[in-house]
Amino acid sequence: MIFRQLFDHHTWTYTYILADTQSMDGIIIDPVRDQHKRDLRLISDLGITLRYILDTHIHADHITGAWMLRNATRGVICMGDASNLDCADLLLSDGQEISFGKHSLKVLETPGHTSESTSFFGEGMVFTGDCLFIRGAGRTDFQAGSPEQQWDSIHNKLFTLPDDTMVYPAHNYEGITSSTIGEEKAHNPVVGGLVTRESYIVIERNMERQPPKRLAEALPANRQCGR
Ligand code: FE2
Repeated sequence: MIFRQLFDHHTWTYTYILADTQSMDGIIIDPVRDQHKRDLRLISDLGITLRYILDTHIHADHITGAWMLRNATRGVICMGDASNLDCADLLLSDGQEISFGKHSLKVLETPGHTSESTSFFGEGMVFTGDCLFIRGAGRTDFQAGSPEQQWDSIHNKLFTLPDDTMVYPAHNYEGITSSTIGEEKAHNPVVGGLVTRESYIVIERNMERQPPKRLAEALPANRQCGR
């Protein structure tokens, strides 16, 4: 399988391209609009036929590249069904499989950061969006976020995956590219180790954070899939 992790240095966003080396069917996860030319060039260079364009959630910090990629490739724009986005070609429900060649990822509804947050699990990897970060977790203070749901998504869904599952988040601010479920269960200072559900919720509710810089621009654009 082809696997590529790409980085947008303006918003610290990771984008992932996966493809089957025989059929060359592929998918992209969390593309950034400012990087759509880079992504299209790589997709073309590798000979990938883009089947699905996945966003883990409606991002608040950058505009999705979904619309630009769809126009150039005819890939299908997918979003979690709780998003109710008209611009999406396919709304994904929990347990659904996204197939590309002989590979597939399973849709895991993981609300908490936002109500429509979705993770994708398969091939020994999980793409966690802004639900589970490496040594952290996504904020829950806007976009219908919920610390209770965030904790339950992480503990009842993500932390039940095999310990050796590779964790690939939508962001990292320290230059770490991946982790594992076992590593996060043991060492995540926000939601792992000896942290309790009650203490996580209290800390999260009392956390003061600045809104993302591009919030006012990103949310309306992303509700149009980056059109
Ligand atoms: Fe986010």
